[in-house]
Amino acid sequence: MNELSKIIKEEIRENGPINFKKFMEFALYHPEFGYYSSGKAKIGKEGDFYTSPSVHSSFGEVISNLIVKAFNVLDTDNFTILEFGAGKGYLAYDILNSLKKNDPDIYKAVQYKIVEISAENIKSWEKLLKDHLENINWYQEISELAENSFNGIVISNEFIDAFPFHRLKMIDGKVNEIHVDIKDDNFVEVYLELKNEEAINYIEDYVKTLEIGQEIEINLLTRNWLNDIKNLLNKGFLLTIDYGYLAEELYSAKRMEGTYKCFYKHNLSTNPYENIGKQDITFDVNFSDLIEYGEKIGFKKVKYVSQGQFLVDWGILKILERYNEPAHSSDRMAIKNLMMPELMGSKFKFLVQGKNLGSEVIKEFYKDGELKLIRKTL
Ligand SMILES: C[S@@+](CC[C@H](N)C(=O)[O-])C[C@H]1O[C@@H](n2cnc3c(N)ncnc32)[C@H](O)[C@@H]1O
Repeated sequence: MNELSKIIKEEIRENGPINFKKFMEFALYHPEFGYYSSGKAKIGKEGDFYTSPSVHSSFGEVISNLIVKAFNVLDTDNFTILEFGAGKGYLAYDILNSLKKNDPDIYKAVQYKIVEISAENIKSWEKLLKDHLENINWYQEISELAENSFNGIVISNEFIDAFPFHRLKMIDGKVNEIHVDIKDDNFVEVYLELKNEEAINYIEDYVKTLEIGQEIEINLLTRNWLNDIKNLLNKGFLLTIDYGYLAEELYSAKRMEGTYKCFYKHNLSTNPYENIGKQDITFDVNFSDLIEYGEKIGFKKVKYVSQGQFLVDWGILKILERYNEPAHSSDRMAIKNLMMPELMGSKFKFLVQGKNLGSEVIKEFYKDGELKLIRKTL
């Protein structure tokens, strides 16, 4: 039997049913066998899923346009880019390549820091990021970052969707939390009335109504993460990229089964109890919480847009022109994949927030569909 299944079953036998969040902590983050901590998470063709940076380098190049603007607006000596959950390092690679080529002075001035839990991923950067190693520092946990705060930008792509979440279901007029128990040596789901105060308050904040039988996921860890960033980022921007919606849409009765899903070798399923520790478990992010809780602790919303819109606003069409020749048809296809609404363009969202910036900067930093010519080369 799968080692991790045994460990989880022992825990349940000893202490009773565990909530789904705890099950997910084992499945993704058990130090030895968890999907992310053990380095089993594989991205790209040979892996379990694609992410935008693994689709085409233009994704990182476009983000570097925003970084250049942030750098110019902040006008600071210690500009830091802090990336969470960098995976194979493709985004860091593309951003740093683009800065090196187009803005060598900015390239020399920035520090790129990464927090990435998987030692396996970190090992792989030696090769991919070898030309940039002088600019990069990495850490396996946020707590390892020096306490000094910095000015700059915090970025993440598909990081929040990996946080362990609670699964809740409306049964007989009461909100229940899905727990995992064992029956005949198999995992089974059981429903226990929701008691967690924080979760109850979260529902009051974001969920207007729940239909009988409706299931939702809520993630209470995003707020801890935002608080950690609040302590680290003195002045600058937070760019969060992930799939998800605002609460009203996310928790509407259109999604009776919730949004969680599992990925194993590019196969999508809703069975978290198979391939435990070998498959990803993920859910759609509630961007309202990032925006509203963010506001409470000092992050002002600058912009919330779809990926397709963001890419157009920050210069992808100009990049696309470079690939007009027939020999570049695979580049064109990849870029369209990132942009088109029916592909990755609408389900992924970009949220830009600002901390300790004047209201003029917040207003002017990002204007709809209007790419300012921030680089001579664009
Ligand atoms: C879905 S992958 C996305 C990777 C990359 N951002 C990309 O777009 O290709 C999530 C990444 O976050 C990392 N990760 C997950 N939880 C983490 C945590 N608590 N701290 C640091 N890294 C984490 C995983 O190891 C993995 O590399």
